[in-house]
Parts: sequence; structure tokens; C-alpha cells
Amino acid sequence: MILIIDFGSQYNQLIARRVREHHVYCQIEPPDIPLAVIRDMHPEGIILSGGPASIYEKNSPRVDTGIFTLGIPVLGICYGLQFMVHALGGEVIAAAKREYGFAELDVLHPGDVLAGVEKATRCWMSHGDAIGGLPAGFRATAATPNTPVAAAEDARRRFYGLQFHPEVVHTPEGRKILGNFLFVVCGCKKDWTMKSFARDAVAEIREQVGNGRVILGLSGGVDSSVAAVLLHRAVGPRLTCVFVDNGVLRHGEAKKVRELFRNHFHVNLRFVPAGRIFLDRLKGVEAPEKKRKIIGRTFIEIFDGEAKKIEGADFLAQGTLYPDIIESRSAFGGPSAVIKSHHNVGGLPKRMKLKLVEPLRHLFKDEVRLLGKELGLPEEMVWRQPFPGPGLAIRIIGAVTEKRLKILKQADVILLEEIRAAGLYRKLWQSFAVLLPVKSVGIMGDQRTYENILAIRAVTSDDAMTADWARLPQELLARISNRIINEVRGVNRVVYDISSKPPATIEWE
Ligand code: XMP
Repeated sequence: MILIIDFGSQYNQLIARRVREHHVYCQIEPPDIPLAVIRDMHPEGIILSGGPASIYEKNSPRVDTGIFTLGIPVLGICYGLQFMVHALGGEVIAAAKREYGFAELDVLHPGDVLAGVEKATRCWMSHGDAIGGLPAGFRATAATPNTPVAAAEDARRRFYGLQFHPEVVHTPEGRKILGNFLFVVCGCKKDWTMKSFARDAVAEIREQVGNGRVILGLSGGVDSSVAAVLLHRAVGPRLTCVFVDNGVLRHGEAKKVRELFRNHFHVNLRFVPAGRIFLDRLKGVEAPEKKRKIIGRTFIEIFDGEAKKIEGADFLAQGTLYPDIIESRSAFGGPSAVIKSHHNVGGLPKRMKLKLVEPLRHLFKDEVRLLGKELGLPEEMVWRQPFPGPGLAIRIIGAVTEKRLKILKQADVILLEEIRAAGLYRKLWQSFAVLLPVKSVGIMGDQRTYENILAIRAVTSDDAMTADWARLPQELLARISNRIINEVRGVNRVVYDISSKPPATIEWE
């Protein structure tokens, strides 16, 4: 495995992704990780990530410099290089000119890490400080017009550094450079696959759970579905999944989940049809946060009640992913303002006194999809777009009524059919319909109509933190609009949402 020390770069998760794309397992840890823990991990290599700080700032992040005495190869990237140079007796200086963006890289000595890299290539820079003098034993291996030390190495001690970012797509040779570090320098094997992960995860779950019983809140989304199948493989009938139908799911959704898990995977499934309770409590409620809170609270109440009926349950399983784990303990990201209160099963364990099982806690989303495929989940499930916990309730602006739900569900079915037919479903982060509490005048046949407006939202995104509205083909938009207005009673106008996030959000409420 490769250990990545997180100095706070916005790209640190990307480093991990790139390493894993080479089928090598890696873990990101904060800089305060004790040396003894690092030693026990037996990493084959250590990568020091970039970071926003200057090495001369008072509170700049530092890792125990004992890492340089372990005989383990180290690759420093950007701030990671500066940290290494500073720690080993070299000099870091404030660069005359901040360098940001593309730079022409001139490879002086390929050495191990730059082996096979074009002599002249582009790289992506983002730094203020630079290397003024290298420690004894090092030599510069590449330069850019502004940065005499763009890469350096001490091949004898197996210390390497890059002032640029090999992990971003803007460094075309980045993949090869990281691969050289992993395979040529560290001697890693390409053994990280979802097949090996599934095998190890099943063994680990069995060890953790022993003869215990596990409950899992199944939402039908990718993460909880993959977690369910994995746990089922590990503990079989000692897993009980609870699926709460809150009445604000997409058309046909609840039935699909029930059939797949009960009939196909033979998972113990408690299916709770609770739509009535949710809709009663939502009656007349218009404020988005109030709707979210009602749904969140009601979900917990129902889930808790069901869980109590499952005798002798000791564990609660969750499909928590690696980015959540990294972010929740990041020393660099401050608490962000609550824009929307998300409803997750996260609030449950404290109340329920159950021990947590989180078998996906080391995986990125794309790996979860691959794992799902490996475990035999249907393509349709594995490639699902995210769907919010409060469901269609936050896509009906204003009060939720059964009539409005019906309109939205019908429109949503048509939208997804057309998006899929156009081959765009997987390319979009999300695509959905939003029903507005606004009426407008139209004409149908010779009749005047006065009906609802429906908005279409389709966005591209990598992580939902930022998103852009999708440039859907005009013919597709025309088809969607035409079909919805003709086939859905209660809608006579369709509009397309052309707002990016920020400043808008993906969901409307
Ligand atoms: P926004 O609307 O804040 O959404 O841009 C970002 C992403 O989160 C999803 N979302 C939720 N997911 N529970 C969830 O599990 C929620 O309460 C919730 N609200 C929004 C949204 O669909 C998008 O992918």
C-alpha cells in the first residue's frame, strides 16, 4: 500500500484516485499520524501531498520527519516537495513570481520517476514558494522557464519531488510519472481490484460482526445497495435491510428495490410502506427546511421503530464512502454553513447504541460502482444518478399534495426515458423534473388552459460541490417538452434551468 500524507491540497483525493487507477491500494492520512503507526502500516511508498500553506508559516502542516529514516521511498508533490527539501536541509524561497497554470517542462535527467517521459512536455503548476537550494545528495531532474527545480531526486535514498501536479489531467505525463514511482521505485504490485476488495471486505465483515446481527437502511441508491449485497455475502440471513417507502420516491422505485433485493438477492428485507404518514405530516408545509426536517425526523422514527423489532441486532451498516471520511476529519476544512439540512442515517447510531459497520469507507464512488458490478448488481442500479433523501418532496416547490406528486412522477418518467434514449443518463450527474407552484396560460386545441409550469434540471458535476447546467441538445429538449405537455395532465409549460452551482444549488429546495 501507498500512504498519502494530506497537507491540505484540493487535489489530494485526486492523488489517491490516480494511485488506485494503477490498481495499487492507498490511504490518505493527516500529517499528525504518529511515526509508529506509519511503521506498522508497512507502506511501500509515501506520497506527501501539496497544500495551500507556505513552509515558513507558523502553523504550516508537518509530518514527523522520522519518515525520512524508515528506508521507504518518498515522493513529495508541490508543498510536499518543499517540506521534504526543508526537512532535509535544503532551502525553500518565496518565488519571484507565483506560478499558476501550464508550464513547459524540460526533463534534464529522467532518472527513475521521469523515465520514458517526453523531454519537452507540459505540466500543471500551482505554487508561490519554490526550491532555492537542494539538500546534499539531491539533483534537479527537470525545470520550467520559471522554476529551475521543477523535479528533483536523491535516487540513493529514493526521495523524489515534483513541484508540479502529476495527479491533474493537465499534466499529460502525470499518469506515467506516478506509475514510475509506484512500480519502478516502490515495487508495488497491481493487486487492488474490486474482486480482491470484495474478498477481503467479506472476511473483514465476518471478523467484525462474528455471530452478530446487522441492520442496514436501504435507500435504493448505489451506496446502500452495494453495501447491502456485500454484507449479505458476508453474513447472509443475519443481515436485515430496512427499506422505508416515504411516498416521495420516483415512480416504480419502491417496487424495483423490493423485487431486486427480496426475489433476486434473497436478502431479508423489511419493506415499510409509510407514504401515508409522511404525506400527512407534510400537509400544507411549504418551507423547504421544514419539509426536510419533517422527512428526516419521520424517517429516523420509523427506522428506529423497525430496528427495535429486529431482535438481537448489534450492528448498523452504512454505505459511508471514503471522501466523507476524509472530509469529516480534515484539519483544513472548517465547518461550512448549513445551506440545506441533509437527512442521512448518520444521526441514527448514537440513539440506537449499535456498533457501526462501514464496509465502503475506503472506496471512492467510481470504485463502489465497480464493486457493485463485481457483486452482480444490475447496470441500472450501479449507474444510478444520486437521489436526495427527501426525494420528490423537495422537487415540488411549495406544499406536497398527492395530485402534485402524481404530475411530477409522470413528468419525471418521461424525462428519464428521453435522457436514457439519448444515451446521456450516465454522462449527467443528475437529471430531474421540478414542479413549480406557478400557473400560466396556454392553449390546447381551441381551449384556453391555465396549468402548472414544470422545470427540467440536468447538471454535470464531479462531486456535487460545484455543478454546471448540461448543454442538452435542443432536439432533445424539444422532445421532452413536447411529450410532457402532451402526456401529463396539469402541465402546459416546460422550462429549462440554466443555473450553475454556485450560486444556485442542484436541487431547488
Ligand atoms: P444541492 O441541492 O445542495 O445538492 O446542490 C447536492 C447533492 O446532494 C443531493 N442532496 C441530498 N442527498 N440527502 C441526500 O442524501 C439530502 O437531504 C439531500 N439534499 C440534496 C442532491 O441531489 C445533490 O446530488
